[in-house]
Amino acid sequence: MANILCIGAGYVGGPTMAVIAKHCPDHRVVVVDINEERIAAWNSDQLPIYEPGLKEVVEEARGRNLFFSTEIDRNIAEAEIIFVSVNTPTKTFGRGAGKAADLQYWEKTARRILDNSTESKIVVEKSTLPVRTAEAMERILNSNDRGIFFDVLSNPEFLAEGTAIADMEAPDRVLIGGRGTSWGSNAVTAIADIYAHWVPKEKILTTNLWSAELSKLTANAFLAQRISSINAIANLCERTEADVTEVARAIGMDSRIGDKFLKAGVGFGGSCFKKDILNLVYLCERFDLHEVARYWEQVVEMNEYQKASFVSKIVDAMFNTIAGKRIAVFGAAFKAHTSDTRESPAIDVCRALVEEQAEVVVTDPEALANAQMDLADLGDRVRFEPDPMAAAQGAHAIVLLTDWPELAELDYASIHATMVQPAFIFDGRNSLPHDELFELGFNVVPTGSVPLMHFQDRPNSRAGFSLRRH
Ligand code: UDX
Ligand code: ADP
Repeated sequence: MANILCIGAGYVGGPTMAVIAKHCPDHRVVVVDINEERIAAWNSDQLPIYEPGLKEVVEEARGRNLFFSTEIDRNIAEAEIIFVSVNTPTKTFGRGAGKAADLQYWEKTARRILDNSTESKIVVEKSTLPVRTAEAMERILNSNDRGIFFDVLSNPEFLAEGTAIADMEAPDRVLIGGRGTSWGSNAVTAIADIYAHWVPKEKILTTNLWSAELSKLTANAFLAQRISSINAIANLCERTEADVTEVARAIGMDSRIGDKFLKAGVGFGGSCFKKDILNLVYLCERFDLHEVARYWEQVVEMNEYQKASFVSKIVDAMFNTIAGKRIAVFGAAFKAHTSDTRESPAIDVCRALVEEQAEVVVTDPEALANAQMDLADLGDRVRFEPDPMAAAQGAHAIVLLTDWPELAELDYASIHATMVQPAFIFDGRNSLPHDELFELGFNVVPTGSVPLMHFQDRPNSRAGFSLRRH
């Protein structure tokens, strides 16, 4: 039996350790955090994060071999393997502000591990970190004169929110970077053995430390790049009467391109993509690779443009003003099946709508509390309404920003009847039945295809805003 500790009980640490504990009843897994409220929630029926399937996994293992605690020092002392999944936000100050990772939480953790260890341990980086952080961690940890040695490994997380449990249960691969690059190295083998409880061995890859760290940034940069690429094409579709869904389907059938991550929309969100790309940009700049840095930076710039142009489309379509008009924002989470609103396009769009003096009402099945915190500074200029039917009542427009299936399956005929006419619907996720909504009387503005409008001769109309079909 091994004593496994995870420092940081967030979106990564909590679900990852719950699945490890489920599959490794022979190991004792403790998750600690400085945030007492978070730990209390992990120990209650109301888990601090929403993730499909998480509750069942936690309930199966909690109290058996899975424990959540605030006693960080004692648990460090007792652990043989320590995963570190504390937050690494983008720096807001000093050198690298706005791009580089803020490593203060991470360094504090390294020093705390050192202060409370009396025996050698394996330390595993789980948070996304800039390349060569493991080396810095090694230096801090192995600076001791107590004869204890720390093996530092990188085991980046590839799970996506909303499917975290499924991703952990059946990962595409598990990546373990270490000094000894083969299964032969003791530390790498110890971590690989944990995953081998349920992951086929051929899916457990071992690399050197830096490759593992860089692979994580690269995977997220490639995924984000695909979204920015299809969004760039969506803009062109809107001007040329091509349909981005048809284009995505056509190119996705090319087996070299593949059909995943080609859904155009209001832009990507989440805690990883922007942060990781900016990390990559900073890293390139540090190594004087300025053209390489600009190349990746453009992926983030395209995403910012996408959010801004979405709001412009709303204002344009609604006769050039939304001041005083009620807009129902459907979805605050950065994607479906999560309560997470970090970097959610919905938050930026709400702010821009308020800037235009619209009256904003937000609804979301799981993320309303987080959205309320994010937008607290806007006071009563934004309202929060759990019931989407009530949110849409008396609204001039619905703006769909999260691909929640429950928001796509509403009774839109009834909703339409309660809205101010002419009623608009802007689909920032292309997850609504556009033709059906048009039939119901909505003016429908999808992403990346021609709007379906009930008026023929709009002032300032472009080709793309004329009546389509019917
Ligand atoms: C991502 C990576 O997928 C995961 O491997 C990594 O460990 C963490 O970062 P996550 O941020 O949870 O996961 O969500 P993801 O499913 O990648 O979606 C990110 C954003 O891209 C969401 O806002 C989503 O709506 C958007 N997206 C995704 C699109 O706009 N179009 C797509 O085709 C796919
Ligand atoms: P992620 O999405 O990477 O999991 P989160 O912000 O959800 O990020 O979780 C990170 C967690 O790490 C938070 O719950 C935070 O309280 C915790 N944390 C940050 N610094 C420390 C620290 N020094 N010791 C223990 N926990 C920490």
